[in-house]
Amino acid sequence: MDHRIAVIKGDGVGPEVVDAALGVLDAVAKKYGHKFKSQQLLAGGAAIDEEGAPLPKKTLKEAKKTDAVLLGAVGGPKWDSQPGEKRPEQAILGLREELALFANLRPVSVREALVDASPLKAEIVSGADLLIVRELTGGIYFGSHGTEVIGEANAFGRFVDFLKKEKTLPPGRFAYDVEQYSEVEIRRIGELAFEMAMKRNKRVTSVDKANVLDSSRLWRQVMEEVRVKYPEVRLNHMYVDNMAQQLILDPKQFDVIVTSNLFGDILSDEASQITGSIGMLPSASLGDGTFGLYEPIHGSAPDIAGRDLANPIATILSAALMLRYSFGMLEEAIAVEQAVDGFLLAGNRTPDIYVEGMTKVGTAEAGRLIAERIGSAA
Ligand code: IPM
Ligand code: MG
Repeated sequence: MDHRIAVIKGDGVGPEVVDAALGVLDAVAKKYGHKFKSQQLLAGGAAIDEEGAPLPKKTLKEAKKTDAVLLGAVGGPKWDSQPGEKRPEQAILGLREELALFANLRPVSVREALVDASPLKAEIVSGADLLIVRELTGGIYFGSHGTEVIGEANAFGRFVDFLKKEKTLPPGRFAYDVEQYSEVEIRRIGELAFEMAMKRNKRVTSVDKANVLDSSRLWRQVMEEVRVKYPEVRLNHMYVDNMAQQLILDPKQFDVIVTSNLFGDILSDEASQITGSIGMLPSASLGDGTFGLYEPIHGSAPDIAGRDLANPIATILSAALMLRYSFGMLEEAIAVEQAVDGFLLAGNRTPDIYVEGMTKVGTAEAGRLIAERIGSAA
């Protein structure tokens, strides 16, 4: 059976890290006799330049015909002055929404060879292995947004309309973004988190700001309702501010962390430092079926783009997640993860995780060495 992959290289370091991951997928195909049919599609800044829109209709239409999407990164200073709805980031948000990928899995597992690369003490990070389950198509990212000038005709009226209550605002520019969650959205991400916990260490920490936000209080209630179906799983709740400190104080206390779109975005960048570098963290975005979008959690890193400096491991591990979740190829996924570990244990390091005495390698070389290990694995 052919597996169809939509490949969106994107901007900045995107093309370099995706090329490295494609090399690894080639090695997997050869070794295990699979056929991956990849099709390149445009999105992000590259699509703005070529087609005038961050997410061209054709990209969406073609992506929907595939089994999975592999994405590099989008964005860069070149497009920073674009209006909000035309920014490259809209490509990612549009793909997530249009493909109904409501669950974002971000595994944070410390590779033993990198214990010393983390800015945190080795005894704190060694053995840490957690999974952040981030809600991906709701919350403040997809609530009402607006920028108004109070004092101009109707602007105030529109805002009051939307808030359904009076609020006195001083004249001048005014912007808002609404955090909002329905119980349906909370329940489906909650259930997915509990399902994941059943396959792991049966612990879920739900992160919210229920001491302040209504949407968080509903979040907490629904998580309590979901727990009833999973009596074996231990659930605790944690405020997001406390989580920000607990993550670096004692990351080993966590198994599955489930949280909203914005909190998950912030906490996963923080958590990446447990592993040593943001260049290490992969992600899988899933919906109801096996279709998924796979991307590193890092951005396009324009400062190092095109210089063979980026760490491709986050993208390579994202490809491994694709094998696992979209293609049901568990053995192959593990082979990729082991090849990454072997590469690191042999002392190879991209600049972001380099420590003295190791061998410095570039993006392409890293991809090649990891692919080679798959080919030669017993
Ligand atoms: C991420 C990124 C995106 C997000 C941006 C690029 C829109 O930061 O995937 O974490 O905020 O979700
Ligand atoms: Mg982010």
